[in-house]
Amino acid sequence: MEKSEKPIAVFDSGVGGISVLKEMVHLMPNEDFIYYGDSAHAPYGTKPLEEVRALTVSHVENFLAEGDKAVAIACNTATSAALAYLREHFPELPLVGIEPALKPAVLHKEGGTVLVMATPMTLREEKFKRLLARFSGDANVINLPCPGLMEFVESGHFESKEVRDFLDQLLYDYKDNKVDAAVLGCTHYPFVRPIIQEVLGDQVTIFDGAYGTAKELKRRIEAAGLTRKDKDHKGTVTFRNSAPNPEKMALCKRLLDFRG
Ligand code: DGL
Repeated sequence: MEKSEKPIAVFDSGVGGISVLKEMVHLMPNEDFIYYGDSAHAPYGTKPLEEVRALTVSHVENFLAEGDKAVAIACNTATSAALAYLREHFPELPLVGIEPALKPAVLHKEGGTVLVMATPMTLREEKFKRLLARFSGDANVINLPCPGLMEFVESGHFESKEVRDFLDQLLYDYKDNKVDAAVLGCTHYPFVRPIIQEVLGDQVTIFDGAYGTAKELKRRIEAAGLTRKDKDHKGTVTFRNSAPNPEKMALCKRLLDFRG
């Protein structure tokens, strides 16, 4: 088998990265994807950095061992913990990560207020501090760590009254159009986007990094000469999970079909 026919590995701490996978499948419909969710160790966002880095590196080593042609870290938290290390140690690998879509949110309205929702680790790490220094401009950026939010998506209860109550409380100070833009800086959050929109208000524009990440992955695969040549091949998606119970696997399929 030619290298270009090998699958692309997409990874997240759990099922959240399916929000990014969706954009990738859309942009590269004839590629094969393996989606690996580490739900057994989720959440990552409240763990120490070293632990998340070690987990992420070991998953990437497994992808490489099975010959996957490219890797996407579809997790903001794992990206902030391990991307720099991975780039240094695997310079040949077409590799992308994801980070909060701060730039378009700041550009959306001059001098606007931008709410960044992400895991505690993403907001605490150097990578995000550099992003803030580079792109905040004259915006008023509010960082909101959201521990506890990803669990509603992991458990499949992302359309429940419980998540609505949780978000009502978490976003209490920003309700009813008090901010101009919100950034979903964790790949689980797009699945609760309709509720976030409802709570924040209909004038608020919500951004996430999924499409930008998918575009960057496509570009890197092209640059490496690894785009599939058989254009009539219909791409496949294979789900794998470190907690592979039937409910989790069914949830993966449900999330891939989710239209928020
Ligand atoms: N999906 C992950 C992200 O994008 C975070 C979820 C977690 O805490 O594991 O940051």
